Amino acid sequence: MIGIFDSGVGGMTVARAVEEVLPERSIIYFGDVARTPYGSKSPSTISQYARQNCDFLLAKGAKLIIVACNTAASVAGHLLQQEYDVPIMEVISPAVAQAVKSSVSGRIGVIGTRATISSNIYEQEICTLNPSARVFSQSCPLLVPLVEEGWLAKRETKMILRRYLHPLRSHGVDTLVLGCTHYPLLSHMIKPRMGRRVKVIDSSLAVAHALKKFLTDNPSFAEGLALGGERHYYVSDITEAAQSTASRVFGREMNLELVRIDT
Ligand code: DGL
Repeated sequence: MIGIFDSGVGGMTVARAVEEVLPERSIIYFGDVARTPYGSKSPSTISQYARQNCDFLLAKGAKLIIVACNTAASVAGHLLQQEYDVPIMEVISPAVAQAVKSSVSGRIGVIGTRATISSNIYEQEICTLNPSARVFSQSCPLLVPLVEEGWLAKRETKMILRRYLHPLRSHGVDTLVLGCTHYPLLSHMIKPRMGRRVKVIDSSLAVAHALKKFLTDNPSFAEGLALGGERHYYVSDITEAAQSTASRVFGREMNLELVRIDT
C-alpha cells in the first residue's frame, strides 16, 4: 500500500495525481480533518501530528509514505525521513526540482501557508539546486478557507488572488510553485493572473511522477507493494466541507471512512 497523509482533504489532489499516474497501485489516505488547518500551528504540534499520521498509515499496512501536506513536509519532512525506516516522500523536493528545471531566468515564486513560507524550505532547496536563483515567497492564508468553502470561481477569490500574486508578478518570476495542497484547485484562476509566460508547478503531479520514478528505479521494492487499485480514504472527522471538497477533487462521490488516531 502507498500511504498518503495530509492535514485534511486538500491532499487528495496528491492522491488523485497518484491514481492518475499509477492506477494499478493500492492507496491508503489519511486526512486529519479534525485538526486541520496545520498551516497556522507551531512546528512542534505539526511534527507531533505528522508522526501520529505516519504511525496510523504504517499500522494499516503502508510500505511507503507520501507527506502530501506542504506544511507538514516543510516542518517535519526531514525529521520523518530520519525517524522511520520506510521511504518517506514529500511534495516539496519534486516540485523544487521541476521549478528549477523549468525556470530560465532563475526568478521563482512560491506560494504556501504561513508555516510553509516561514520554514523557508522552498528557498533553501531551490538555492541548493541553483545557487544563483532568486526566490520570491508569498504566504496566502486566505486561500485554504476559500477553497474549503468552494469559492473556486468567485469574484472575491479573484480579488484576493490578485493581491497575493501582484508582488510575484512585479518581481518578474517566470515560474510559480503552488506550495499547498489546495492551490491546484485554484490554478484556473492563478494561471491567467500570472500570464502565459509563467510556468505554474503543481506539486501534486510532481510527487506522483517522482513516485513512479522511484518505483521504476527500485523494482524489488515495487514488487512488494500491493497491486489491485484498492483505495481507502480515512479522515479524523467527517464534515460537510470535507465531504464536498473531497468530491470536488475527485469529481465523484467519495466514501470517507472515519477514524480516531489521537487517543
Ligand atoms: N495541507 C496544507 C498544506 O498543503 C494546507 C491546509 C492546512 O493549513 O492544513 O500546506
